[in-house]
Amino acid sequence: MTHTASLKIDDKEYPLPVIVGTEGEKAVDTRTLRATAGYVAYDQGYGNTGSCESKVTFLNGDDGILRHRGYPIEQLANHSDFVETSYLVIYGELPTAAQRKEFGLRLRQNAVVETQMQKILEGFPTSASPMAMLSAMVAALPAYHPQLANNNFEKDLKVFDQAAAVAISKIRTMVAMIYRYQKGLPFMFPKQELPFCDNFLHMMFSEPYKDYVSVPEVTKALNLFLLLHADHEQNCSTSTVRMVASSSSNLFTSISAGISALAGPLHGGANAAVMHMLQSIHDEGDDGSRFIAAAKSGSKSNRLMGFGHAVYRNFDPRAKIIGQACGTLLSKLGIDDPLLNIAQHLEQAALKDDYFISRKLYPNVDFYSGIIMRAIGIPVNMFTTMFAIGRAPGYIANWHEVASNPKGRIYRPRQIYVGPVLRPYVPIDQRG
Ligand code: ACO
Repeated sequence: MTHTASLKIDDKEYPLPVIVGTEGEKAVDTRTLRATAGYVAYDQGYGNTGSCESKVTFLNGDDGILRHRGYPIEQLANHSDFVETSYLVIYGELPTAAQRKEFGLRLRQNAVVETQMQKILEGFPTSASPMAMLSAMVAALPAYHPQLANNNFEKDLKVFDQAAAVAISKIRTMVAMIYRYQKGLPFMFPKQELPFCDNFLHMMFSEPYKDYVSVPEVTKALNLFLLLHADHEQNCSTSTVRMVASSSSNLFTSISAGISALAGPLHGGANAAVMHMLQSIHDEGDDGSRFIAAAKSGSKSNRLMGFGHAVYRNFDPRAKIIGQACGTLLSKLGIDDPLLNIAQHLEQAALKDDYFISRKLYPNVDFYSGIIMRAIGIPVNMFTTMFAIGRAPGYIANWHEVASNPKGRIYRPRQIYVGPVLRPYVPIDQRG
């Protein structure tokens, strides 16, 4: 069925094209409205705006559906791992055995962060935010790989495979370096023979003369955590990547901007905020009712962290998967984490509360992901950097879509100006 749309302003009608996506999502194309009618579309926060066409991820927030390149997140979580899902997200297809091997090799060969870059890290106070350090290090990558970062789409697309591998592999190494720098520990070089997640755990937790010994359950949980974060449609940080990319910025610069956007507590920073909340409930011996009551006040700073989502109006499918994995990991490792019990109790209490029911607020991926990371041994202040490792493939795939779109425009939204109207300059001695 073909759809038609028109907008009537006063007594004049303006026909508008309708775009329908492959999953039936419909959009009214308002691009010509300013030229034809002198109006722009107003949508503060872009909550109802399709800013691009994308083939990477399909998300239906009402039904709790998340698919990468057509594959349901539940199936990927059950059968795939982070590296394979990264390939899928970036290249659009599950890799053949040969492609998987070649991709894995590229990641292994690009894991080392240049020694000179350590100096960037050492310029930071050890108390600095790990996300600030990560974003700065990624922003510095073009200086160390000028051949991969030309700020020219034609040139950058030719070296894309290499740049993508550098980004994924080095972001992981940088996170381990930041952790060790803050703890005053010597950096551990990556080991070529180790798979992606084990290599990360080695760089984090090995000690001089005492290598980290891989624990399969931990590797599996880390793989799942990263895979569940691989992409999530046009969220705040991915849109930021696209926006920066739209000015023909190279991959690394665009990702660095995305990492900065991810740092905020309403986005990637929520996983750390959830742990702080659970820890305070634990320390105060409260049952969580104080946090629930405060969350209902409507104040942004008192929100129940790990609850609600800008697009899911039903459950977040990632939260379901990670919630189950949490229990499994803890029981396999024999860990009795009181914060898991508090989280489960809080979830039950919130899901029975009219405030949360009527607003369709459910746990999101961040609600349980902190407990998994805590069991792996990641400190809370590093949580959001873990999210950044996981989200790298999504940033890369979205950058690629922008870079390879010959009809793409620079992102440049309009605004409705509501400030003072024209007024003459007043000299300083005449100002009241
Ligand atoms: N606790 C209490 N109230 C909430 C919460 C919450 N966590 N989330 C939303 N609300 C309220 C809003 O205040 C609003 O109330 P109102 O109708 O009385 O004004 C109502 O629920 C609807 O809000 P939404 O439109 O659903 O929220 P929005 O899209 O603006 O924000 C967001 C989404 C930022 C994720 C929000 O739910 C939130 O702040 N959650 C807590 C932080 C968090 O967990 N962030 C992680 C998101 S997932 C991710 O980035 C990976």
